[in-house]
Amino acid sequence: MGLLIKNGTVVTADKTFPADISVEGASIKEIRAGIPATDGQKVLDAFGMLLLPGGIDPHTHLDMPFGGTTSSDDFETGTRAAAIGGTTTIVDFAIQARGTKTRDALDTWWKKAENKACIDYGLHMIVTDLGEAGLEDMDDMVREGVASFKLFMAYPNVLQVDDATIFRALKQTAKNGALICMHAENGGVIDVIVQQALAEGKTAPVYHALTRPTMAEAEAVHRAIALSEIAGAPVYIVHLSSEDALNEVREARSRGVPAFAETCPQYLLLSIDEMKRPGFEGAKYVFTPPLREKENLPKLWDGLQQDNLQVVSTDHCPFCFEDQKILGKDDFTKIPNGGPGIENRLQLMHHHGVNAGKISLNRFVEIVATAPAKIFGMYPKKGTLAVGSDADIVVWDPAAAHLISAKTHNMRVDYSMFEGFQVRGNARQVFSRGELIVEHGKFLGRAGRGEYLRRTAHGGAWA
Ligand code: URP
Ligand code: ZN
Ligand code: ZN
Repeated sequence: MGLLIKNGTVVTADKTFPADISVEGASIKEIRAGIPATDGQKVLDAFGMLLLPGGIDPHTHLDMPFGGTTSSDDFETGTRAAAIGGTTTIVDFAIQARGTKTRDALDTWWKKAENKACIDYGLHMIVTDLGEAGLEDMDDMVREGVASFKLFMAYPNVLQVDDATIFRALKQTAKNGALICMHAENGGVIDVIVQQALAEGKTAPVYHALTRPTMAEAEAVHRAIALSEIAGAPVYIVHLSSEDALNEVREARSRGVPAFAETCPQYLLLSIDEMKRPGFEGAKYVFTPPLREKENLPKLWDGLQQDNLQVVSTDHCPFCFEDQKILGKDDFTKIPNGGPGIENRLQLMHHHGVNAGKISLNRFVEIVATAPAKIFGMYPKKGTLAVGSDADIVVWDPAAAHLISAKTHNMRVDYSMFEGFQVRGNARQVFSRGELIVEHGKFLGRAGRGEYLRRTAHGGAWA
């Protein structure tokens, strides 16, 4: 019984070494060279392959209502695509509806996921409403393994909360050990600029970007970090997109402040030029924060190299071009915000990061798996290859050529933001808790096998 992966090269966040991995049940039993096969053990030869911990995408929006529609991947199609791309864990976002309890949202999101998730999943809670009872609700969520909350400084009248609410939430996490994730853009300022653009008849997709200046992101990042310092709590900036915003994180970290940040492949690889495509094509790239001028891209890579950015997530939030993005045909503010990417994160980061010489293999593993596991309370169960850890293992072929295209991808969306990108490096086999769930791009697992992850609120112990 069990599994033995032989002759691979194990890559963790800090080491690369030739070894075999034996798996018993759902966890890793042994890692060393020359493990003998035992009777009945299934043996997989991984000669020439890298053995990576399963990817962890801590920022996805599956089956999420937004702008009068719902993101097009549900927990089945989205997690299946994730697995095919080498991601074995996601952390998605439940959304508290205003005037309701976070517990209702948690129940709703558990129902969305339970018979569908193909890989393990945790949930953050988006807080939109925080009365006195809300602070106790946050503690209740922590007991349920919801070790992180997202707050919005943008989207007035929908998701945005004021500074007092942010501060109270931060103070509560200083006590209960959870982590506040911040969507950092100054929503009030952006709204004024947006209304002016609309009044001037500027309705095309590119105006989504032109009405959201990088300084509106930097100001909010600065404020988020300042509030977290006053509250004595760490903060995690989600989907950071610009050099101006990064400068704020760098400055805080240089003072020893526990400020963390993620970026996404789209901000590292695409620029505002995509939004200037003819016709309505630019709508494919409407998400928030928007794509930036290309001068920002190398700065974000520097941020990853220097650990001012700790994580690469996808912010996977797909909407079909033909029948969802079209809602904003005559008004960019009505284009559902979000783009697809859950399947391609490891391929893109390996090719454009490792193969391009921008990050080492170990840093690659760190930003796509180990750091998210540590920051979001899943380590060392997830995010590394170690004895006793879950056997979430990706057999990665560093030489495999792959063409990214909507014609062949597994996400339920009719376009790819990375259409035509030719990458080298892809998942050959993917194991989740010791079970082979992907082989050569084919999903072999089943919907509903994914387990809810009760994450630990560790009060910034990773810092
Ligand atoms: O445009 C985006 N990013 N949509 C998803 C919601 C969010 O703000 O993360
Ligand atoms: Zn956001
Ligand atoms: Zn998001």
